[in-house]
This record gives sequence, C-alpha cells and structure tokens, in this order.
Amino acid sequence: MENTITKDNEDLFLQITPKRKLDSVYLSDSVYRPCFELLDEIEHRDLLRKNGIEPRNKLLMLGTPGNGKTTLAEALAGELDYPLYIVRYDNIMSDDIGKSADKLGKVFEAVKDLRCALFFDEFDTIGKSRNDQHDNSEFKRLVSSLLVQIDHLPTDVLVMAATNLESALDNAAWRRFQIKVVLERPQREDLTRWFTDYEKRHGFSFGVDPEELGESVYGKSYSDAEELARSIYRQMIIHPEEEAEEITRRQMRFHKHQKSIF
Ligand SMILES: Nc1ncnc2c1ncn2[C@@H]1O[C@H](COP(=O)(O)OP(=O)(O)O)[C@@H](O)[C@H]1O
Ligand SMILES: [Mg+2]
Repeated sequence: MENTITKDNEDLFLQITPKRKLDSVYLSDSVYRPCFELLDEIEHRDLLRKNGIEPRNKLLMLGTPGNGKTTLAEALAGELDYPLYIVRYDNIMSDDIGKSADKLGKVFEAVKDLRCALFFDEFDTIGKSRNDQHDNSEFKRLVSSLLVQIDHLPTDVLVMAATNLESALDNAAWRRFQIKVVLERPQREDLTRWFTDYEKRHGFSFGVDPEELGESVYGKSYSDAEELARSIYRQMIIHPEEEAEEITRRQMRFHKHQKSIF
C-alpha cells in the first residue's frame, strides 16, 4: 500500500519518520494497556476483518504538558512503522471558515488511502484560532464536521489527538475516540526509575541518589526531569575534573530557581 502524501498537500502536515518506540516512553499501566491492545488489534487487522470486525483506530491523549502525549504519538506510529502526519493548524485554520473547512477536507482526502498515523496535536489550539467576531455556531459546525470526518476515516489510518485535560472536559464530541488515556505526572518511584535509567543509558553516575533527584522534581513533569538530567550530563562532559555530586547539586539548585521564576 502507498504510504506517502502527494507534494501538493505537503503544507497541511508536518511529516515525521518516527524514531521512538513504546519501550522508551514511561507509561502507567492504565495508559500502556490500552495502547498495547490498540497496536495488537492493528497488527491483527486481517484476522479481525476476516471475522467481520475492524481494529480500533482512534486514540485521544489527555494530560498536563511534558508528560508524553507527543512522544507517545510518535512511539505508536513507530511501532507500526507508519509515517506520522502532524496536522498544521497554522496553515489550515484562518478567519475564513469556508476556506478552513476546505483545507480540513484536504487533510482527510490526503491520508484516507494510506497506512499512516494522523495526529492532531494540541487539539485545543484549534479553538484558539477562532476570531471572536465570528459567528460561534459556524465555528462549532466546523469542529463537529472535523469530528465526523475523523469518524469516517478507514481504520488503516490511526487517528490520534492530544489536548490538555481542562479544555477537553465537557466535550461530548470526544466520545468518538474509542480509547482515551490520561498521561499523568510521574510519581516518586517513576522518577527514581527514570533517573536510574538515565544513568544507565548514558553510562555515568549523578553522584546523588536517584531517589533524591526524583524528589527534587516531584510534582513536575517528565520533561522537567529530562531537562535537569541533561543539564547535569552536559556539565559533566565539559568539566570531567569536577566532582559529580557537586555538579549535580548545583544543577538541582539552578533548576529549582529557574522553575520558581515563573
Ligand atoms: N512519559 C514519558 N516517558 C519518557 N519521556 C517523556 C515522557 N513524557 C515526556 N517525556 C520527555 O519530555 C519531552 C516532552 O514530552 P512531550 O511528549 O512533548 O509532552 P506533551 O506532548 O505531553 O506536552 C519529550 O521529549 C520526552 O523525551
Ligand atoms: Mg505535546
């Protein structure tokens, strides 16, 4: 099956060849399980179809920033060896609702015959492109038409959407997504594991107990943990003569201070 979009539709998407796999994403069981099943169903699509049933293909990811929504989308596409098409709202949505609707139509037309992953990242930003002078109901129709089109895509297109929790709450439209997962902030033990693995992956020691590192970013995101670990690792490479523990403790202080500015 053909797997790439045509040149004239290029501006509608950011096309990514996924590099991540699922085992590089830290997931709670309540996220891992449904994602595993989704992949399992897609990989067994022929068997399912022979028995008169389609695999699921619509996944909604919720959660606060920095806890793996975009990363998970890439990893799922990666597991399936699908190209990942991230929808570019900046080139689609404008004050001209008619034009926006046309371009959205093109998005679906471009992918409908492919085996690929279509990703509406930060889906809530679609709402923000709305001009307040505009008729609200016109805009609502556009969004509901978008959801209907998602519904009608063939199951060979894996459709994913990501949004932060609050902006998705009372939206009945989300029911169209067969699987909904919430990517939560890491627990203490998740962070300990994360810092331990980071040491192993890079072959060095923080000189500070991973548990203590975890505690210092507890309440924040995986992305924050990664930012701290990377800044330590950089300093260790540049200053091999310095004590690891000293570098780590200094970076922990900087990190805390940086985060308190906002
Ligand atoms: N659950 C996770 N497992 C592994 N890495 C993560 C996880 N969540 C976030 N990260 C790291 O933090 C960075 C930002 O995460 P991202 O997926 O963009 O978050 P979101 O899309 O939810 O805001 C990524 O580059 C990734 O390396
Ligand atoms: Mg994201």
